[in-house]
Amino acid sequence: MKTLSVFGTRPEAIKMAPLLQSLNQQPQIQSIVAVTAQHREMLDQVLQLFDIHPDYDLNLMKHGQTLEDITAAVLQGLAPIMEAEKPDLVLVHGDTTTTMAASLSAYYHHIPCGHVEAGLRSGDKYAPYPEEINRRITGVLADIHFAPTPLAAKNLKTEGVAEQNIFITGNTVIDALLQATNKPCSLEGLGLDDVDWEKRVILLTCHRRENWGNPMKEIFTALNDILCHNKDVEIVFPLHKNPKVREIAYASFGNNKQIHFCEPLDYLPFSHVMKRSSLIITDSGGLQEEAPSLGKPVLVLRTVTERPEAIEAGTAMLAGNNYQTVYETTALLLNDKNTYNQMAHAINPYGDGHAAERISKAILTIYAK
Ligand code: UD1
Ligand code: UDP
Repeated sequence: MKTLSVFGTRPEAIKMAPLLQSLNQQPQIQSIVAVTAQHREMLDQVLQLFDIHPDYDLNLMKHGQTLEDITAAVLQGLAPIMEAEKPDLVLVHGDTTTTMAASLSAYYHHIPCGHVEAGLRSGDKYAPYPEEINRRITGVLADIHFAPTPLAAKNLKTEGVAEQNIFITGNTVIDALLQATNKPCSLEGLGLDDVDWEKRVILLTCHRRENWGNPMKEIFTALNDILCHNKDVEIVFPLHKNPKVREIAYASFGNNKQIHFCEPLDYLPFSHVMKRSSLIITDSGGLQEEAPSLGKPVLVLRTVTERPEAIEAGTAMLAGNNYQTVYETTALLLNDKNTYNQMAHAINPYGDGHAAERISKAILTIYAK
């Protein structure tokens, strides 16, 4: 059988990489790859690390791209590929606009679609925006759903997805993380040479659309004040490539010597920075899944999350996206040893590193007849 995997952003690539490795090991499967390149540099970093050579590259990223730009370009760009390749199954991941438009393209061409990381729901259509609706649309279009956790599977069943089309697999991000953290890696020459790792280091990432503008200003101002009041704390902040994020970050932290900005890190050094940090503060989806595996408490810069498993396990806490809640939760984690120690317990609700294997087996069972 022939699978066509379509993805376009950094997190999709990280989470699809283990699945591509697993598909390539199956003699019955011909696995081909189309990247939309909704992200360019941040995608290429991952392609290089995992040695992925796409068969097709739509190269669609534009600076200042709108949701409409991405959706239209993915639909237009994939149509001839679907026609030429006629895959037996299209595989998409997660909740980006690439994901949503690629699953729609598969449907337009009467090709079955498998959704990896299916069933995550925040219950709020504008948070995260537009990811909550992207994944719901993909859920409606998909024929086979790879749910990372029992809760994600339950969400799908509640929405009427037939049980035999849902497979609980774990999240492939844990497969990727275990590969990365098991490899040695130097942090030299990445813009982090001045970081004092003897101090308490917070790893910060922030990029979500619903945090653009005022929420982001409040988050960064709160964290800058935290630095001013805690001289033994430093922040490492790999900046997302989006200029909207960078402008606010530079303006809010000014010349504070305790903040270390750097370019988006390759996944290998990034995973080692996660391991060396004492606390992770983020609005990212993937980091909420990775951090508990490494025993790192996570403060989530959101008002709701589609990943409540880590919160229930006690390793993550919602910090919101306003000055007061961000300041207070960060101060709590820095000053209250009991809370910190409780949250640092390494419980991993997201998988055992074998998710990709389970997904490729499920694909073979259903489609390779
Ligand atoms: C996208 C996804 C989001 C995902 C995030 C992961 C959508 C609508 N959003 O958001 O779900 O969490 O990726 O990071 O699908 N840019 C570069 N180089 C890059 C990447 C981005 O310059 O390698 C800049 C470009 O100016 C681009 C902008 O960032 O126009 C925004 O990229 P876009 O993919 O539209 O949105 P993200 O915020 O990255
Ligand atoms: N990541 C990375 N380098 C960085 C920041 C993040 O490799 O500088 C990884 C991170 O470990 C996670 C993924 O990128 O696996 C998360 O991507 P992002 O936050 O962009 O997207 P989201 O998960 O929010 O969709």
